[in-house]
Amino acid sequence: MLLVDALTKRFGSRAVLDGLGLRVGPGEYVAIVGESGSGKSTLLNLIAGLDRPDTGRVEVDGTDLAALDDAGRTLARRRKLGFVFQSFHILPHLTVEQNVELPLVLLGAARDERAARVLELLSAVGLGDRGGSMPRELSGGELQRVAVARALVHKPSLVLADEPTGNLDPDTAQTVLDLLAREIRSRGAGGVLVTHSEAAARSADRVLVLDHGRLREPVIG
Ligand SMILES: Nc1ncnc2c1ncn2[C@@H]1O[C@H](COP(=O)(O)OP(=O)(O)OP(=O)(O)O)[C@@H](O)[C@H]1O
Ligand SMILES: [Mg+2]
Repeated sequence: MLLVDALTKRFGSRAVLDGLGLRVGPGEYVAIVGESGSGKSTLLNLIAGLDRPDTGRVEVDGTDLAALDDAGRTLARRRKLGFVFQSFHILPHLTVEQNVELPLVLLGAARDERAARVLELLSAVGLGDRGGSMPRELSGGELQRVAVARALVHKPSLVLADEPTGNLDPDTAQTVLDLLAREIRSRGAGGVLVTHSEAAARSADRVLVLDHGRLREPVIG
């Protein structure tokens, strides 16, 4: 589902990622933890093809994103990827419903199918009655849940989530984690979850630590 090989990314003289490798199989959900500034968001951006590595390779669902031109990469990203950004990236001039619907509109899904799936996802994150609201009327945690719904709405083959429960109370966080795990595992998609939360890490199949530019197993105890 996801293959990352020998990925290196420098900012100035500092190697943030240094020969990093990662494999995520179908239906597998991996949590990545690591100190602030260790490169977790950088890694997700590279996996999503939103930034280019200095060296190394990323393959998503059999496609090498770096080998595509800009248009091809945009299309592949739309179809295959669901991304929950650390800062949400909800569009302020669209309603909640329109934000969640957008990936399906871009993929040309039919109106009825779009409406049903948007309601399904908004209900699953506890916002079934907020579809008509504007983003500025929502709390931070509500916006975060809109971002999760939008990342899952088009049934992507790879879900990338950057601290998707950072603004949520424990119960709501668990609801969102269960939804992410269910959507990923039931469809045989892959999932990469970046988190500082132990509860979130526990919901994953495997936990890895980003440390000095590479992923390693956690030290237990
Ligand atoms: N565009 C950029 N230009 C220069 N430095 C950058 C850039 N993007 C990230 N960095 C640096 O790379 C390092 C890793 O950043 P990144 O955002 O990946 O960390 P993170 O692990 O996601 O941290 P956090 O847990 O705080 O979100 C940081 O030191 C950051 O300052
Ligand atoms: Mg980050």
